[in-house]
Order: sequence, then structure tokens, then C-alpha cells
Amino acid sequence: MAPADDGALLYLYRGALFKIADGVQVPKAGSLFFCRHLEFQAGERVLELGCGAGLATVLAAKAGCRVVATDVVPEAVECARENAILNGVADRVEVRLGDCYEPVGGMTFDLICTNPPQMPTPPGRDREDPVAAADNGGVDGWEILDRVIQGASRHLAPGGRLVFTVFAFLGQKAAMSKLEAAGLTPRIVGREIQAFPRIGYERLDHIRSLDAEGALPRTGLPKTVERFVVQGTKPA
Ligand SMILES: C[S@@+](CC[C@H](N)C(=O)[O-])C[C@H]1O[C@@H](n2cnc3c(N)ncnc32)[C@H](O)[C@@H]1O
Repeated sequence: MAPADDGALLYLYRGALFKIADGVQVPKAGSLFFCRHLEFQAGERVLELGCGAGLATVLAAKAGCRVVATDVVPEAVECARENAILNGVADRVEVRLGDCYEPVGGMTFDLICTNPPQMPTPPGRDREDPVAAADNGGVDGWEILDRVIQGASRHLAPGGRLVFTVFAFLGQKAAMSKLEAAGLTPRIVGREIQAFPRIGYERLDHIRSLDAEGALPRTGLPKTVERFVVQGTKPA
């Protein structure tokens, strides 16, 4: 049991307050980049996959959307639920535990959004803990994103959109062609240069071996990385 004098980690964003529980990722540059490029219309049905503390979920609910949020980490599910209550939007938010689309079988949405784990993880280096769940995207970084993209059409209403973040070293062209192959019309809706992630330095050789589109310099330590927010729209 946690000692009674443990502190609480609070995060303030766009007039909403988030309590960040142990085992839940503190919002990072990628979280804010993601939120900056999400557009919500009141009344839309929104799914956030991998909600963490529930930043995008609470913003969508505050904009008048009905939101289902999911995460594989029980601490994140509880944390996002508490943050919906804290921000007075619990009546518009349902948080479910489970992998990818498994908690929302048979449901459709106007917007599916995710800032998923996508850090390429060398073979044998994955772990079963909440930090790994927030960062690791399988050997090539696409493990979760591929499943998100492949399942999107089944869970999008006609004209609905899938919006996700992706590191440039995973491939901008790859993202576009994966969306097209899934029957979605691709578009880059945001791009940003960010500090190169600390964890990326530990995996630099592995990441470089996957960087087919040449997003990173071939030598030296990169200081920055480009990130994209990509949208795939289902035909109306
Ligand atoms: C990079 S964090 C993003 C958290 C939050 N959405 C944000 O932008 O700050 C990725 C989140 O996805 C969750 N996650 C990892 N694998 C998942 C899966 N297979 N299905 C659903 N959520 C998953 C992690 O637990 C983590 O909370």
C-alpha cells in the first residue's frame, strides 16, 4: 500500500485538470501534438484507443461528443474514468479495459483517434509493464498501428475518420499506403519537429535499420524527429 504522504501528480491542459496515476504515462509532446490536431463536432461518437490519462477523451467530451475510451492498462482505465469525473463529463465518457478494438465489438464511431505506442522494440527487449505498454510498438513499431488501421473500416461510420500520430522514421509513405489498402482516403493533417525521444537513443541502430524512407540522418546522434498526425477517411 502507498504511504499516506505520497504526492499527487496533476496536469493542467486547456482548462481541464488531470490527475496522473502511478503506471499511467504523463502527457508528453506527442500527446499535445495529437490533441492539437483533433477536431470534434458536438454529438459525434468518438473512440480513443489507448487513452492513458484521458486527455483527448476529456477534450472530446467537453466539446459535446460521446466518447468510448480504451486502454490495456487497468491503472489507465481507472485514471481516465476519474479524470472524466474530475472534469464533469463522466456522463459522456465510458472507459473500457482491453486490447485495441476488442472492448468495442459491433460499435461504430464518427472519429477513432489514437496516439499509440510505436517505438520499435528490438527482439527480446519487450516487457510486460505499463511503461512498456505506453512506448513499445513491436519490432517494427507498427504492431498496434497496423491493427488499428486494419480494423478501422469495420468501426467507422460512413464518412468517419481515423486519426493517429506516427513517427517519420516509421514511414510517411508507408502510413499513406496502409490507409489506402484499408479502404481509407489518407491525408497528413499535422506535422511537427520534436526533440528526439530519449528511449530512441537506446534503440538507434534498430530504428535506423527500419528507416526505409530516410527520415533520420544516417550518422551521428539525431537531435530531432519529425512526427505526423495522419487521417484516413472512410467513404461516405
Ligand atoms: C503513447 S501512450 C498515449 C496515452 C494518451 N493517449 C496520450 O496521448 O497521452 C499509449 C497508450 O496506449 C495504451 N496501449 C498500449 N497497447 C494498447 C493496446 N493494445 N490496446 C489499447 N491500448 C493500448 C498504453 O497503455 C498507453 O496508455
